[in-house]
Amino acid sequence: MNLKTIEWRDGKIKLIDQTKLPHSLEYIYINNIRDLWQAIRTMKIRGAPALGAAAGLGVYLGIKDSKAKNFGEFSKELERVARYLAVSRPTARNLFWGLERMCGIAVKNKEKPVPVIKRLFFKEAQKIIEEDRRACRRIGDYGAKLIGNNDTILTICNAGILATIDYGTALGVIYRAKEKGRKFQVYACETRPLLQGSRLTAWELKKNGVDVTIICDNMAAALMRQGKITKVIVGADRIALNGDTANKVGTYNLAILSRYHNIPFYVAAPAFTFDPDMKVGKDIPIEERAGDEVRTILFRREVAPLSIKVFNPAFDVTEHNLITAIITDKGIIKPPYNKNISKILC
Ligand code: MRU
Repeated sequence: MNLKTIEWRDGKIKLIDQTKLPHSLEYIYINNIRDLWQAIRTMKIRGAPALGAAAGLGVYLGIKDSKAKNFGEFSKELERVARYLAVSRPTARNLFWGLERMCGIAVKNKEKPVPVIKRLFFKEAQKIIEEDRRACRRIGDYGAKLIGNNDTILTICNAGILATIDYGTALGVIYRAKEKGRKFQVYACETRPLLQGSRLTAWELKKNGVDVTIICDNMAAALMRQGKITKVIVGADRIALNGDTANKVGTYNLAILSRYHNIPFYVAAPAFTFDPDMKVGKDIPIEERAGDEVRTILFRREVAPLSIKVFNPAFDVTEHNLITAIITDKGIIKPPYNKNISKILC
């Protein structure tokens, strides 16, 4: 795949500005953590694994010019940077996982001189990127086995190349199945309010030769009733140890509809999306976003009175008992999740 969602280039973070898609493919260069914070909050960069990479590169960006003379001073600066990036968005586990990994490097190497620790930070950020790339390929390998000829797969939001380093999680399964020569179709929910399904998923699948059709979010039940959906595959922002999964709002609807229509419902995510501190999904913090995302179409055209009240949660939690299996880079996890998640992840 020729797209690079996020990378380190010429001393800056280079990323695709996803708010510009599908109209134009534009890259931006970020050289300070305030701009990175804004890019995350405004979803120029988005998707849980891509946020993990942004955390790694962001911490390096934030401390690379540090003038700290000793570890004490350095670790205070590091803490400031990590705390700042941590409040950009609350739900995706990968963002916090990335920050924790970077902070762990400092603790492990505190006896070393500051310039050496900085170099180790750069290496760690690159390692996060490489691990994500490999994890998505493995998810693709495992998941493709579940896809047969003539399947019609429904997905929501964007869990593809644009949400990861490349390849994707839910869409990684689709890309791998295509590489293996399977013939199938994909339906993408447009994913109101910010339309990641129609703007991003449809764009990248089409670009990569996948047969994709978009539907409005409220059409999923009708399609299922007509027998037009044989599988649902979605990504994940955070998975609790009992398998409860936070993902783009609307995912829970699809899981309930799948159960009613007897359609397998799969979640695809790397191991680092599981939160070891989260026993059940109800404790996962759910981001609430600005009302104007709903009152307008992409802030351009009003579709509601501008003074109207809006409730705009960006994610919902799907209970584990609605999930047929979780496709990870370590293998496919089936129920009972309480037992099997810790078995596979350990
Ligand atoms: O608000 P977003 O666009 O960051 O939400 C993204 C999703 O919900 C994705 O499905 C999830 O992060 C998995 S991406 C591989």
